[in-house]
Amino acid sequence: MSEILKLVGVFKSYDGKNNVLKNIDLNIEKGEFIGIIGQSGSGKSTLLNIIGALDIPSKGDIYFNGENISYYNSEKRAQFRNKNIGFIFQFHFLLPQFNVIENILVPNWIDSGNDSHDKKEDALDILRDMKLEDIADRDSQNISGGQQQRVAIARALINKPAIVLA
Ligand SMILES: Nc1ncnc2c1ncn2[C@@H]1O[C@H](COP(=O)(O)OP(=O)(O)O)[C@@H](O)[C@H]1O
Ligand SMILES: [Mg+2]
Repeated sequence: MSEILKLVGVFKSYDGKNNVLKNIDLNIEKGEFIGIIGQSGSGKSTLLNIIGALDIPSKGDIYFNGENISYYNSEKRAQFRNKNIGFIFQFHFLLPQFNVIENILVPNWIDSGNDSHDKKEDALDILRDMKLEDIADRDSQNISGGQQQRVAIARALINKPAIVLA
């Protein structure tokens, strides 16, 4: 197995004094499924935000496929996230102005502009895998909560990310 993600001595403080994350070392291999367990307020979301390049550490380094991504600027982090990370949030955050299949294609539009004709087939494949093909053209706000959550999962997969954070 090859290592996809490595954290070395990661600290995070929000106030410059108290560390929420204290010297985290973590190695994740390609293909691994990892669960992070801890009390509310213990730092799980803080860690996921840093792994997903939504936030930067106060100290320490994060390597993705051997490349140090710790201190990318916000534009580079956005590109990195779009290409490499699929996010499945607790709340689905589907965009109300778009229907189901359009919501799934949004990460691809960001990646490649409107030139995403090829990807529509990929989106339909994912919809079929998730038993959502019947609702592809439905308004994303007028489907069930479980369907919305599955649409959000499909959206996280459309750019074939190396890492899915759920
Ligand atoms: N943006 C923030 N600004 C300041 N403090 C924060 C922020 N986000 C989280 N915290 C604090 O950091 C600690 C860890 O929070 P969090 O990572 O959200 O925990 P968990 O996801 O495990 O419940 C908590 O004490 C929380 O209050
Ligand atoms: Mg949390």
